[in-house]
Amino acid sequence: MKTQVVIVGAGPAGTLLSHLLGRAGVSHVVLEQQSRDYVLARIRAGVLEWGSVEILREAGLAERMDREGQVHDTINIAWRGSEMLSIDSNELLGRRMMAYGQTNIQEDLYEAAEAAGSTIIFEAADVAIGNPTGRPYVTFSANGVRERIDCEFVAGCDGFHGVSRTAIPASVRTEFEKIYPFGWLGILSETPPLPHLMYANHERGFALCSMRNPMLSRYYVQCPLTDTIDEWPDDRFWTELLARIPADKAALIETGPSIEKSIAPLRSFAAEPMRYGSLFLAGDAAHIVPPTGAKGLNLAISDVHYLARAFVEHYQRGDDGYLDSYSDMALRRVWGAMRFSWSLTMLLHRFPDMSDFDQRAQEQELYHLSTSQPAQIAFAEQYVGLPLEH
Ligand code: FAD
Ligand code: PHB
Repeated sequence: MKTQVVIVGAGPAGTLLSHLLGRAGVSHVVLEQQSRDYVLARIRAGVLEWGSVEILREAGLAERMDREGQVHDTINIAWRGSEMLSIDSNELLGRRMMAYGQTNIQEDLYEAAEAAGSTIIFEAADVAIGNPTGRPYVTFSANGVRERIDCEFVAGCDGFHGVSRTAIPASVRTEFEKIYPFGWLGILSETPPLPHLMYANHERGFALCSMRNPMLSRYYVQCPLTDTIDEWPDDRFWTELLARIPADKAALIETGPSIEKSIAPLRSFAAEPMRYGSLFLAGDAAHIVPPTGAKGLNLAISDVHYLARAFVEHYQRGDDGYLDSYSDMALRRVWGAMRFSWSLTMLLHRFPDMSDFDQRAQEQELYHLSTSQPAQIAFAEQYVGLPLEH
């Protein structure tokens, strides 16, 4: 087989890139190691920055999102038991966000890929990238048969555990990492969510109340990394969640059986550069942020926006300016989100080794955020997402 671009990974980054390349007439093949159903069953992100909303709209992918997504502009942060601080991004900045689940975006992307006749090969095993500094090729096994695709570029969109990042030799790759000493236990329940996203800093640990649609809620509680979901029957989850949020909000929450339950570790990670010869990394393949800032999917979308533009300029105009600046441009946004997600994680969680000093410093920052409009503007500016570079 021969194509212009091989995309490794059919998560949001890989399938959005496929869609954008397909629209511009750039030939490509997508290789995904899992089945389509497996990818669609993963419950992940829920909050889109407006920049992401606009990229999806421009790509013609927003029909269902605009119908079913919930525009929102208020971020609540509960702290010291019953204090509540409310940040209205529309009032402060005239900017909003959209609650629309990653699962829905993934469904929309797979539907668009089918309509466009794009080639996504699911259950592609043992994907390997060859000759990334010259004329690259990608090998994989499908139904037990080893295949090879020759191409001009490889887009590594295969997430944190993929093979693309490690195809960049360690000698030219720099990695930055921070591991947090806890995870998030998340559940999905077919019950009405609170009207606004609410984060809680509580002495029992962090909690988050989020939403997917008017009859689907997403909740998280901070838990030790050693916990397993078997240790968290629904009753225990609800008791813990309700104990960590202010009583007036707890009284509004309707509990019910969970329809999904999972534990995600928290990590900050970045690999630089995001390009090595003809190999380009995008999304979680290059960087991970803790979910506290709701940035991971948004970064995947903005990386792909830059990368698709770079490939299209190369093929339509013979201009490699954007390919050459891709890594620097993407990394500027990545580090903005990296810093914000780290600082919000530090602000909202209870750390096992936290001293009284650390505790006071955290409370002071929450107090400052609740009383200073400039601090709220700076928070809102980063939460709703910094603008893309042109
Ligand atoms: P992935 O979604 O990981 O997709 C990579 C794909 O590559 C996968 O389908 C994988 O199966 C495939 N793959 C892996 N290895 C190979 C291989 N060797 N060969 C072929 N294919 C391979 N982000 C937000 O913006 N907002 C949020 O509110 C938010 N909340 C989150 C909550 C949780 C609990 C979690 C876990 C994440 C959250 N995120 C959030 C992060 C977001 O889900 C990720 O950043 C996003 O999925 C990244 O997309 P991606 O396509 O780069 O990677
Ligand atoms: C979610 O709805 O899953 C969600 C919302 C906000 C976050 C993380 C996850 O910060």
